[in-house]
Amino acid sequence: MKKVFFLSASMLLVLLTYSACKKEVSYEIDPNSLYSRLGGIDAISAVTDQFLANVAADNAINARFAATVANPARLELLRNNLIDQLCEAAGGPCKYKGKNMRDAHKGMNITQAEFNALVADLVAALDKFKVPQKEKSELLGILGPMQSDIVGQ
Ligand code: HEM
Repeated sequence: MKKVFFLSASMLLVLLTYSACKKEVSYEIDPNSLYSRLGGIDAISAVTDQFLANVAADNAINARFAATVANPARLELLRNNLIDQLCEAAGGPCKYKGKNMRDAHKGMNITQAEFNALVADLVAALDKFKVPQKEKSELLGILGPMQSDIVGQ
């Protein structure tokens, strides 16, 4: 009898903790944030996958990613880093755990034309998912300032 009480009491605690967490998470996400307006983590993941597919098909820059594409674990890491980066930058509940942009691109000598090509691949992915102009501009406005840490490093 004691055991049954203990079991149901701990189940209730788990249930309460779970609903408290869920409540906390749903209140923490600002519905007006760029993250929410983009459609949350599922939309950001879908855009990232399309973006990576566009980059892989883009002869202007795909050689840069040949070693990454050839290694599934490395590609998965890049994908996850990009999702976290976009999600966090848009005000979402993610934490980017990768290198800063200067260190990530150090020694690559990326040109302005290559940077522009990659941004065009991202815009094409956003367009494919019909992301409105306002949200597209806001996202590009966040990524734009990263240019000086990426080009010519
Ligand atoms: C706004 C523009 C860009 C953003 C936001 C961005 C973002 C990132 C991120 C998050 C990583 C992973 C860092 C890590 O491993 O810790 C990365 C790596 C990398 N980026 Fe960029 N990047 C940009 C532009 C470019 C451009 C223009 C090129 C070349 C054309 C490029 C080539 C690479 C390569 C080759 C890697 C290494 C991938 C690997 O580790 O396998 N990036 N970038």
